[in-house]
Amino acid sequence: MADRPLKPLLLTGAAGALGRHLAAALAAKGWTLRLTDIAAFPAALPPDTIFSQADLADGAAISRLAAGCGAILHFGGIARDQPFDAVVPPNIIGAHHIYAAARRERARVVLASSNHVAGFHERTERIDDVAPLLPDSYYGLSKAYAELLARLYWEKHRVESVLLRIGSCAPEPWDARSLQIWLSYADLTRLVERAVLAPDVGCAVVWGSSRNAALSWWGKDARAKLGWEPQDSSDRFAAHLAQKRSADPIAERYMGGDFCANGFSRPVVAPDGTKKKKPSRTKN
Ligand SMILES: NC(=O)c1ccc[n+]([C@@H]2O[C@H](COP(=O)([O-])OP(=O)(O)OC[C@H]3O[C@@H](n4cnc5c(N)ncnc54)[C@H](O)[C@@H]3O)[C@@H](O)[C@H]2O)c1
Repeated sequence: MADRPLKPLLLTGAAGALGRHLAAALAAKGWTLRLTDIAAFPAALPPDTIFSQADLADGAAISRLAAGCGAILHFGGIARDQPFDAVVPPNIIGAHHIYAAARRERARVVLASSNHVAGFHERTERIDDVAPLLPDSYYGLSKAYAELLARLYWEKHRVESVLLRIGSCAPEPWDARSLQIWLSYADLTRLVERAVLAPDVGCAVVWGSSRNAALSWWGKDARAKLGWEPQDSSDRFAAHLAQKRSADPIAERYMGGDFCANGFSRPVVAPDGTKKKKPSRTKN
């Protein structure tokens, strides 16, 4: 491809679910990849890739791995709702190391952000890429921090970023919520490629979902600037999953689902107008 950068891409979180998929898919498309994760790579390495085990919290290691890279695909870190202390080293300190390295290398960052940066928007809303960040968990908060770090580095240092607010990226959706926000692996691969190749992205946000008829929550974003449109759809799963809802009214009320319900302790207004305190299910 004539417009493909000659420099390698650094992929963090390469041993994770999305990382393993991207490593294989991008290597098969001819990208030059440097892979890293704190865990060992759990399978045979894709051809012509190199893997280095490293902790995102180790700034010197991240700096060495990023040396000479044209873009960093940042998919590493805690990927679910966890206590604050667990999230800080990989997701907050780690994101800082990624941006410091990107600045030094003049590399673009493709950030695996999350729908959970905006999880406390109600499902009756339709939000676009400038809607307020309303994180639903310490995990969502750490992704919101990384998005703000991206904005700081764009405004101050002209480090470009594409912030992928990924919905539910898995081989198949599993319930009514994931039916709405499902992102197929193939659509993710095409999105990441466009995020690397598109010129002059600045600091751009894209909602990461396929063309799902069920999705009504997310509006305008930077996909046209990237030249990306999803091609897959969760519609073939709708008959089985459309009624597969959570029994929790908080999870059903907000876009973030269970992440909003987890540890929720605010008084809930019942249909009869009385206030009930919802019991907290977890401590974090
Ligand atoms: N899968 C989804 O639907 C989804 C949705 C929204 C956002 N995301 C984001 O996409 C990325 C990948 O998600 P995933 O589903 O593949 O998660 P995953 O948990 O399978 O992969 C994350 C990887 O990060 C690695 N990691 C954790 N701590 C680390 C550290 N300190 N240093 C280096 N590596 C570390 C883990 O070992 C793991 O291999 C994550 O950033 C996640 O938040 C995923």
